[in-house]
Amino acid sequence: MTSFSFNYGPRLRAAPGAAADIAGLLAADDLLFVTDGGVRGLGLCDSALAGLAAAGRRVTIFDAVEADPSAATVLACVEAGRAAGAGAVIGFGGGSPMDVAKVAAYLLGSGDALDSIYGVEQATGRGLPLVLVPTTAGTGSEATPISVITVGATEKKGVNSAALYADWAVLDPTLTYGLPPHVTAATGVDAMVHAIEAFTSVRLKNPISDALAKEALRLLAGNLRTAVNDGGDTAARGAMLLGAYLAGVAFANAPVGGVHALAYPLGGHFHVPHGLSNALMLPHVLGHNMAAALDLYAELAPIVDPRLTGLGRQGQAQGLVEALSAIAADCGLPSRLRAVGVEAGDLDLLAAEAMKQQRLIVNNPCPIEQHHARTLYAAAL
Ligand SMILES: NC(=O)c1ccc[n+]([C@@H]2O[C@H](COP(=O)([O-])OP(=O)(O)OC[C@H]3O[C@@H](n4cnc5c(N)ncnc54)[C@H](O)[C@@H]3O)[C@@H](O)[C@H]2O)c1
Ligand SMILES: [Fe+2]
Repeated sequence: MTSFSFNYGPRLRAAPGAAADIAGLLAADDLLFVTDGGVRGLGLCDSALAGLAAAGRRVTIFDAVEADPSAATVLACVEAGRAAGAGAVIGFGGGSPMDVAKVAAYLLGSGDALDSIYGVEQATGRGLPLVLVPTTAGTGSEATPISVITVGATEKKGVNSAALYADWAVLDPTLTYGLPPHVTAATGVDAMVHAIEAFTSVRLKNPISDALAKEALRLLAGNLRTAVNDGGDTAARGAMLLGAYLAGVAFANAPVGGVHALAYPLGGHFHVPHGLSNALMLPHVLGHNMAAALDLYAELAPIVDPRLTGLGRQGQAQGLVEALSAIAADCGLPSRLRAVGVEAGDLDLLAAEAMKQQRLIVNNPCPIEQHHARTLYAAAL
C-alpha cells in the first residue's frame, strides 16, 4: 500500500431544500451571512434567511463580494462580522462568496492578519464555526481548505490551510436550477478540471482521491451538456452539484496543477471567469503533459466518453482531450484566448505571471517553465 493521509473535509448535508435548515448546524445566536449581490438579488438566500429567522438567529448580511474577490473585500467582511459580534459564519453562493466566508471566519476566530496566512499551512489558529452552501456546481470550495483571493490589482493568491475547512457543507440542488447556461458551463468545466488534475497530481495523489475524482468525472461529464441545455433537469443539476463536491474533496487532498496555474493569470489580468479560463487552457496543458500522464489520461477517457473503451492507450489519451474539448464547445464556451480579449502582445506577461503559481505547478505531471507557459498560451491564442 502507498503511504498517504486523507481529510474528508466538512460534514455533509445534501437534500433538495436543505438550505432552509442551516440553523440546526450552528449554535451561535449572531451569524455573519456572506453572499453576493447577484445571488441575493435572485432571492436564492430567502429560504435560508427565513429558516434562520424562524430559529431566532440574528443575521448580519454581507453581500458585497465580487467575482474573484479582493483582499479589501475580505477585510470589509471581517469588519462587518466583528461589528455584529458574529459567533459563526455562513458562506452562500459560488466560489467567490464561499472563499471570502472561509477566510473571514478564520480571521474573526483566530485574530490573525490576512497578510500572514497566504500559502500552505500558514493559518494555524482556530476560526469561527462555518457552514458553506454552494449555488454553483463548480469550485468545490465547500469541500476544500483553500481560498483564492485577488491581491493588488491582478495577482491571485491562495490560502491553503486545514484551519479553513468548514464544519458543514450543505448541498441544495434547488439553488442551482436557475444558474444561466454560460455560468453552468464554465463552472462545470472547472469541476471537471479539479477531478482530472487531482487524478494526475504528482504530489499527494492517493487511492481515495482517485476514486472520488473518477466518480466526480463520471457525474460531471455525463450531465454537463444536459444541465446547460435544460437547466430545469433536476437529475442533471443534482449530479453536477454532487460531482463538483466530490471533485472538491479529491483536490483538497491531491491538489490541482498546470491548468489552474495557467488559468489564474487570465482571471487576474483579463477578468475571465475562473471556469472559462480553465476551459481555454485545458487541452493545451493536457497535451503538454501527455508523455508523463498518458496512462492516467487513458484511464479517465472511457469515463468521459464510453466510446473510447477498447482503444489503445495513445488513442484513449488523445480521445480524452478531444472529448473534453467537444463538451466545452457543445456547452457554448469559446476555445481561443482572442475571444476573451487576449492578444499576441500579452503572452509574455501571462507566462511571467503563471510562474508565480509555483504552489500549483509543483503538482503538475510535467515541469512547466516560463517558455513552456508562453508556448501554451500561444497555442491557445
Ligand atoms: N476555494 C477553492 O477551492 C476554489 C476552487 C476553484 C475556484 N475558486 C475561486 O472561486 C471563484 C469562482 O467561483 P464561481 O465559479 O463559483 O463563480 P462566482 O462565485 O464568482 O459567481 C459567478 C457569478 O454567478 C452568479 N451566481 C452564483 N450562483 C448563481 C445561481 N445559482 N444562479 C444565478 N447566478 C448565480 C454570481 O452572482 C456571480 O455573478 C474564483 O475566485 C476562483 O478563483 C476557489
Ligand atoms: Fe478551479
